Amino acid sequence: MSHQHSMFADPKIVQEYKKLVAEIRQHDESYYQEDAPIVSDADYDALRKRLEEIERAHPELVSKDSPTQKVGAVPSKGFKTVQHAVPMLSLSNAFEDQDIEDFYGRLRNFLKLPEASEIEIVAEPKIDGLSCSLRYERGQLVLAATRGDGTTGEDITANVMTIQDVPKTISGNVPEILEVRGEIYMRRDEFMKLNEEQEKIGSKVFANPRNGAAGSVRQLNPAVSAARPLRFFGYALGEVSEQIAETQDGIRRKLKGWGFAQAEPQAVCKTADDVLSYYRTMEEERPDLPYDIDGVVYKVNRLDYQERLGFVARAPRWAIAHKFPAEKAVTILKDIIIQVGRTGALTPVAELEPITVGGVVVSRATLHNEDEIARKDIRIGDHVVVQRAGDVIPQIVSVVMDKRLKDSKDYEFRHECPICRSRAVREEGEAVWRCTGGLICPAQAKERLKHFVSRLAFDIEGLGSKIIEEFYDEGLVKNPADIFTLEERDKKSLTPLRKRDGWGDLSVKNLFESIDRRRTISLNRFIYALGIRQIGEATAKRLAETYLSFGEFRKAMIAASDMESEAYQNLLNVQDVGASVAADVVAFFAEDHNRRAVLDLLEHVTVEDAQPRMIGNSPVAGKTVVFTGTLPTLSRNEAKAKAESLGAKVAGSVSGKTDLVIAGEDAGSKLTKAKELGVAILTEAEWLSLIDGY
Ligand code: IVH
Repeated sequence: MSHQHSMFADPKIVQEYKKLVAEIRQHDESYYQEDAPIVSDADYDALRKRLEEIERAHPELVSKDSPTQKVGAVPSKGFKTVQHAVPMLSLSNAFEDQDIEDFYGRLRNFLKLPEASEIEIVAEPKIDGLSCSLRYERGQLVLAATRGDGTTGEDITANVMTIQDVPKTISGNVPEILEVRGEIYMRRDEFMKLNEEQEKIGSKVFANPRNGAAGSVRQLNPAVSAARPLRFFGYALGEVSEQIAETQDGIRRKLKGWGFAQAEPQAVCKTADDVLSYYRTMEEERPDLPYDIDGVVYKVNRLDYQERLGFVARAPRWAIAHKFPAEKAVTILKDIIIQVGRTGALTPVAELEPITVGGVVVSRATLHNEDEIARKDIRIGDHVVVQRAGDVIPQIVSVVMDKRLKDSKDYEFRHECPICRSRAVREEGEAVWRCTGGLICPAQAKERLKHFVSRLAFDIEGLGSKIIEEFYDEGLVKNPADIFTLEERDKKSLTPLRKRDGWGDLSVKNLFESIDRRRTISLNRFIYALGIRQIGEATAKRLAETYLSFGEFRKAMIAASDMESEAYQNLLNVQDVGASVAADVVAFFAEDHNRRAVLDLLEHVTVEDAQPRMIGNSPVAGKTVVFTGTLPTLSRNEAKAKAESLGAKVAGSVSGKTDLVIAGEDAGSKLTKAKELGVAILTEAEWLSLIDGY
């Protein structure tokens, strides 16, 4: 390294310096702005090192746009995380008119309203962007966050501050705390202009406005976001310190008054017919709107109804998205490959001649299962109609029979695993074939690991699918516990990661840091991460809230293998757990290897205890209640949802564990049994007065 300072640098050095600056800036752009690095970290580090050498020797050369002068361009951890005070929900989807009738039906049923009664519904465009929560304290914007997994998002305040549509302060009669939720999006014309500019400077061109908006918000450098044509629509509230309206429409007016742009037109509808005619109008207007929409959203207007309806898993009962029909295109089916899932499910996947469907290039589509292929008579070499709806996996709708090749043959689904060659079996009542290779099947093992590190499980950044496969194939990571000993082993390794292709000091450091951040984990994530069949995110949460510690959970699941045991009965009493789910959990813990893998993992990971699901200190928290008979005012669904929201467990049958039975008209055997067992019995009115005010 040269330390000698010269007044005038050699022209060759000047040239090299300029080239380095340009090159590094290009790499920074690909890495930070497009999440798509084009050189290995090692090569990048070498370029940076050379640049710094030159700058030390020739300080007079250091230009303002040198990568070394950029502040905050290289944060190693990306964005800070944010806990949402009120979860950010998503919406369930409707595609057909009947789904809307059903939606109305469910609302009436839950609210126990008479058949054919009117319910006011606000209908509005569903904007295709990304959701964002804006938090105002005393009228000042203090925080902007992405949805993330709904509970934890990313802090994108600095970037959102640059969006002109977003009010930075709001005045008038504003609650002390106000969270406004809405969508960040790009207008179509502005998106096109952005792409033209991107193309001109040789930068990434975005596939559609949604990607453009997402890519621009997830900029680590706010100056880049600022230069992008981002906009915001407000459509809902998160945490608020006081009610601002009594209806959804009232919220919209308030938001509008405070300066939040609204997606127009909106309509207040009374019947399913009104709603559907709004849908048809929007379908027609869609091409003329300045921004992309992928459907419309319906929301129950009365907020007291919204409150009563609450939500299931991740979506409110009081709203639904009515999607526009999927876009379609015709292409050639080149091949059918079989993917092996983490539970051994063999899923046929279509490999297609790449084609653009609704602005996105599609080269694969799911074929679901053997029967589906047979039913649609799909053959390799066929011209097929492919459709893509929103973020749903592309599907094959049908075959263009006129174009079928004369020599094409029926597709033969082989009943064996394409990876480990184990026999495949199809259980009764199931449509899928499953590989029986279990623990010896590398495909299943890899998928289990991918699930383990995925966003709703351990959420380990930097351990993507490709890297998991690579680590598995090399024997570096064979089971979850290996992830947590990777750094130790890497230190002693003769071929440490940082010396490998595609890795550099920075990426290795980041990986180990993100693994370290997950050495402590919540019980619900831990249970979900185990990848037990049928245990999704919601059920994992129910189990965590029931058993509270992993030790208790594990003990109970082992005990529950005896179907006569109390442990088994208790498991069946957990919300969402029926005999089939119970069988899968019990089977998981009955397997020696699983038990060992879990114990190994616990050597490296601390599982935090969960909190029982108890909202405040309601008199029914922790109690097991049974509803029976026809209740005079409450629908069964509402009664159950309310009891659960107060921390009670709602069981389907009366046993020694039952604390309360709420009996309506025509209560039968459950009431008799409750009397026999001496369980407290309430009328609906008594129940309502017991929980009044909670
Ligand atoms: S309301 C609790 N309204 O669609 C209800 N969402 O597919 C929360 N979206 O996560 C959502 N336009 O990001 C609502 N007018 C609209 C919307 C909208 C777009 C997005 C939103 C949501 C996603 C669900």
